[in-house]
Amino acid sequence: MKRSASAAASTVVAVSLLTCFAAADYAGAAPPNCVTAQCHARMGKEKHVHGPVASGDCTTCHQPTGKAHPAEKGAFKLADTVAKLCITCHESKSNKKHVHSAVASGSCTDCHDPHQSPNKMQLKETGAALCYMCHEKRSPKYGHGPVEMGECTACHDPHQGDNKNQLKLADGKLCFSCHDSAKFSGKSIHEPVRTGACTSCHKPHGSDFPHLLVKNYPDELYLPYRPENYALCFDCHGADLAKDRRTDTLTNFRNGDRNLHYTHVNNPVKGRSCRVCHQPHVNSQAKLINEKVAGFGKWEIPINFTKTNTGGTCMVGCHKPQSYDRNKPVQY
Ligand code: HEC
Ligand code: HEC
Ligand code: HEC
Ligand code: HEC
Ligand code: HEC
Ligand code: HEC
Ligand code: HEC
Ligand code: HEC
Ligand code: HEC
Repeated sequence: MKRSASAAASTVVAVSLLTCFAAADYAGAAPPNCVTAQCHARMGKEKHVHGPVASGDCTTCHQPTGKAHPAEKGAFKLADTVAKLCITCHESKSNKKHVHSAVASGSCTDCHDPHQSPNKMQLKETGAALCYMCHEKRSPKYGHGPVEMGECTACHDPHQGDNKNQLKLADGKLCFSCHDSAKFSGKSIHEPVRTGACTSCHKPHGSDFPHLLVKNYPDELYLPYRPENYALCFDCHGADLAKDRRTDTLTNFRNGDRNLHYTHVNNPVKGRSCRVCHQPHVNSQAKLINEKVAGFGKWEIPINFTKTNTGGTCMVGCHKPQSYDRNKPVQY
């Protein structure tokens, strides 16, 4: 039963394929109608149909070779390589400084169906799923909003661009397309923030450290001193800054040769984190010194820092005003 049914079906297909081009010696003549109830019937039925397919211009891309269709193989050949074919009607996608490797290789049809698709732009997949056809999906502990939402093209042009990695904007400008730039300008600006090097501290896709940080910098305000806890800062600043009790060189935060970074930070039981005193981005006070620091309960301890040429004064809620001076040490 089964066998004769399928035999019958294939006869129907063969007959109908022939009727498609029954009287069609179409070389030079108007293109035949390739899409009929029997032939290429699904063509043009998806939600998003490519312009020339919708208008039935099959032969702008598929040139007849003269062989009989569908009786013989090789009755059509593509008018050109895919990449060249596409840019006979579209602007080049590989004439800028940074071209996506997938585009440079000329395989437009890895991402776009040349005919039709349920997805806009005849894409083979939507959102990040398109990118994950070739790129490995990573699952960091802390994901970045737009990456989690699958919005790869919020930051990357899929084809090309003037910036490395086909980023739509360079450096900080990219981040400021979503994050308020006003929060990153002020009197005292951390050098890598000023130069827009946001990714020297943050991973754009996600990280195993909180706040998308590239390295460890715990949220705790008080913790035992270990250089690994400040790996983020010590990527650029010498870890020596808080190493020795006495120094004339390692830091300017000293009273005479007494290292006040050591005093505050380098306690094996309950040291202060850099974040007790410093902001990572910008601040209205010199040296990125916080205006306030979280205290006990809801109380925020105000810090009023005045810098001098050789030292500074701190008026802090938790101790009486204290000054330090590198040249003429203050007697405590
Ligand atoms: C914009 C150019 C373009 C147009 C217009 C076009 N095609 Fe194609 N077609 C291609 C390309 C490119 C391939 C090869 C696909 C690949 O390599 O992934 C292809 C492959 C095919 C194939 C074989 C593979 C498959 O998808 O089944 C058929 C059949 C086909 N086209 C029929 C048609 C018909 C019928 C039309 C008109 C309704 C048409 N094409 C219009 C570019 C086009
Ligand atoms: C014969 C001319 C022609 C060729 C060749 C051609 N296209 Fe198109 N393409 C069009 C037209 C016409 C449209 C519809 C334009 C519109 O709707 O604005 C279109 C639309 C598109 C769109 C959707 C654009 C949009 O804004 O919605 C994509 C993506 C696309 N083509 C990709 C390709 C790719 C990939 C190739 C090569 C496989 C290709 N095209 C080859 C004529 C062509
Ligand atoms: C058809 C396969 C393919 C798809 C789909 C694909 N890529 Fe790629 N992509 C590659 C290859 C190959 C490379 C080069 C090798 C590598 O870095 O892994 C690459 C590299 C990149 C690079 C590094 C710079 C470059 O161009 O070499 C970025 C950024 C990128 N892809 C982003 C994306 C995004 C965003 C998407 C989804 C819109 C995507 N890719 C989809 C194949 C693909
Ligand atoms: C890595 C996947 C990928 C490859 C490869 C790719 N595209 Fe695209 N293309 C996309 C995506 C994603 C969009 C939709 C962009 C958007 O929504 O902003 C798009 C949009 C388009 C559009 C319409 C919007 C525009 O930018 O003009 C055209 C036309 C187009 N592609 C042509 C091409 C051509 C031609 C090639 C080969 C040279 C190609 N694409 C290769 C992913 C790809
Ligand atoms: C918030 C902006 C943003 C989003 C959204 C984003 N990227 Fe990126 N991507 C970047 C930046 C910035 C770089 C440059 C690398 C760096 O500085 O660490 C990059 C680099 C890349 C690279 C090349 C280097 C590497 O890490 O392999 C690939 C591939 C890539 N992105 C793919 C993707 C894919 C896939 C998605 C969506 C799942 C995506 N990106 C979403 C900003 C983004
Ligand atoms: C397309 C929009 C978009 C772009 C571009 C973008 N972000 Fe985001 N970012 C978000 C969203 C959405 C969130 C999550 C909402 C929130 O927590 O505020 C977020 C959150 C963050 C967080 C907070 C994570 C946390 O847990 O504290 C950091 C850090 C961050 N982004 C850094 C960057 C950096 C650096 C760049 C540039 C490389 C960038 N973002 C570009 C949309 C964006
Ligand atoms: C020197 C390292 C460093 C640089 C450079 C840096 N950040 Fe951050 N960023 C941090 C740290 C650390 C946090 C965690 C919050 C904290 O410790 O106060 C953070 C938190 C954030 C947050 C989430 C919390 C908030 O303050 O809104 C966003 C968004 C953010 N950064 C965006 C950026 C952008 C955009 C840039 C570039 C203009 C940038 N960062 C440059 C270290 C840095
Ligand atoms: C990507 C490199 C980089 C990282 C990471 C980094 N810094 Fe900086 N920082 C700099 C540069 C460059 C300067 C300016 C030159 C200097 O003073 O060393 C600077 C200056 C400073 C200053 C002096 C600011 C002023 O106004 O003179 C402080 C305070 C500071 N950083 C604290 C930190 C803290 C705290 C961290 C960790 C959260 C950190 N930095 C992480 C590069 C970095
Ligand atoms: C008790 C508050 C406090 C803590 C905690 C603190 N700093 Fe500082 N830091 C200062 C002050 C005040 C200055 C300004 C010194 C000057 O120029 O007079 C300073 C200056 C700096 C500078 C500029 C260069 C220098 O050493 O003079 C860097 C870099 C820096 N701190 C990094 C850090 C890092 C990294 C940590 C955590 C490991 C940290 N600070 C912890 C108060 C603090």
